[in-house]
Amino acid sequence: MSNVELTDVQTLRKRAREHVEQGAVTEGYHADRQEILRLLNESLATELVCVLRYKRHYFMASGIKASVAASEFLEHANQEAEHADKLAERIVQLGGEPDFNPDNLTKNSHAQYVAGSSLKEMVLEDLVAERIAIDSYREIIQYIGDKDPTTRRIFEDILAQEEEHADDMSDLLQGL
Ligand SMILES: [Fe+2]
Ligand SMILES: [Fe+2]
Repeated sequence: MSNVELTDVQTLRKRAREHVEQGAVTEGYHADRQEILRLLNESLATELVCVLRYKRHYFMASGIKASVAASEFLEHANQEAEHADKLAERIVQLGGEPDFNPDNLTKNSHAQYVAGSSLKEMVLEDLVAERIAIDSYREIIQYIGDKDPTTRRIFEDILAQEEEHADDMSDLLQGL
């Protein structure tokens, strides 16, 4: 026996017609929408900062002919950009506005932008940033619980990839 009460069809149909201007946000949406939007925008800032940091590391590593690290950095930069797109898309679905203002990025991001001078420093800083993202996304997933399954799934997919990124950086670091 589940304690979830199912809504009858008539009520579902009636509710769906009310507030159609809210698009994907229906009356059954039980999460704190403003709080979810805030978390999504902070995560968007985190991803964008990670794109910039990995891009910097990619070009610097290419310059010192560290080709294995460079290709990892580039792959990660592209994947962080995909994460940013998924978060921005969800923000709009929830009736919010994605914040791409460069002035707000470092303020809102959980992970830091560290330029890094040596290859070892770059890889270490990337590993640290991934570990920050992993912890913050895990907490966000726990916070969302079953209140917004779609947003939670987006964070779960991103989290899985950040764990792969951390693993990649950890492997690289061992070879340096
Ligand atoms: Fe990411
Ligand atoms: Fe990552």
